[in-house]
Amino acid sequence: MSDETRPRMPAATVETLARSVFEQAARYGFTRIDQVRLASALLSLCNAAGPAATGPGQKATATAAATRSVPTPPSGAGLAHGARLVIHALDASHPHFSTVAGWLQELFAAHFLLSAASPQSRNLEELLRCDRNVFGLACLDDGRPAVLLAYLDHDELHQRAEMRVLVGDPGLRRQGYAEEAARAWLAYGFGSLGLGKVFAQTLQGDVRTMQLFERLGFAVEAVLPGELCIAGERHAAVRCALLRDAYVLPADPPPSA
Ligand SMILES: CC(C)(COP(=O)(O)OP(=O)(O)OC[C@H]1O[C@@H](n2cnc3c(N)ncnc32)[C@H](O)[C@@H]1OP(=O)(O)O)[C@@H](O)C(=O)NCCC(=O)NCCS
Repeated sequence: MSDETRPRMPAATVETLARSVFEQAARYGFTRIDQVRLASALLSLCNAAGPAATGPGQKATATAAATRSVPTPPSGAGLAHGARLVIHALDASHPHFSTVAGWLQELFAAHFLLSAASPQSRNLEELLRCDRNVFGLACLDDGRPAVLLAYLDHDELHQRAEMRVLVGDPGLRRQGYAEEAARAWLAYGFGSLGLGKVFAQTLQGDVRTMQLFERLGFAVEAVLPGELCIAGERHAAVRCALLRDAYVLPADPPPSA
């Protein structure tokens, strides 16, 4: 029986099998990036020209996969770039790992995690190990680490994740690096990661963060009274979000004369 005439597997079967492979790979020690590489390797097998194995001892013509092919950035690879910076995947072996861990000790910077929608470890190594989180570090042209970016709790079923942005060195704030890096990170999220919705949560009074997300095109979805408890005090949170369809790609620079 050919692939064309064979009845389709029920969606629940496909999802269950995918989840089982995903969980086994996670138990094996696959990081989030490794999982993406695994998915890409599966797609390559499906797309391979000529016959592909479909069962023990069986061969069948490969069907053209309608699924989008996910790029496979190796650990530390460049994920995105802006005019003044490049974003690399961040893991515990990254040369700037200890600098970034130091950033998170500062109270102001700690809001990168404290005002997140879901509980997050404040230990950077644990954060990076969590396979639902994706981290990037934007470095300037001279190599200085400038902006830490994250997608927390990447939900593959609903194609959404919580975005976080941190300019670690206070001397680099208010120079447009956060916005530039965030735009590149959104292009990566909506493009390579296949996100359909990116959301962010912040303290209601955090004007700088709100201004940043507004400039990026996020719309406020809700104000959540008393949502966060920081240093024993309850604070309202603002949740804002950006849908892929509403995301406006930055305009190309005008052609030089
Ligand atoms: C939130 C946060 C990332 C914003 O950083 P930021 O440096 O203020 O944001 P930007 O890099 O976009 O800088 C904007 C400023 O740079 C200016 N700017 C923009 N482009 C510029 C350029 N090319 N050159 C110089 N300045 C520029 C803007 O005019 C703006 O000025 P203003 O501050 O006077 O309004 C930063 O405050 C931070 O790291 N906070 C701690 C972590 C946190 O709470 N994150 C929120 C949870 S996700």
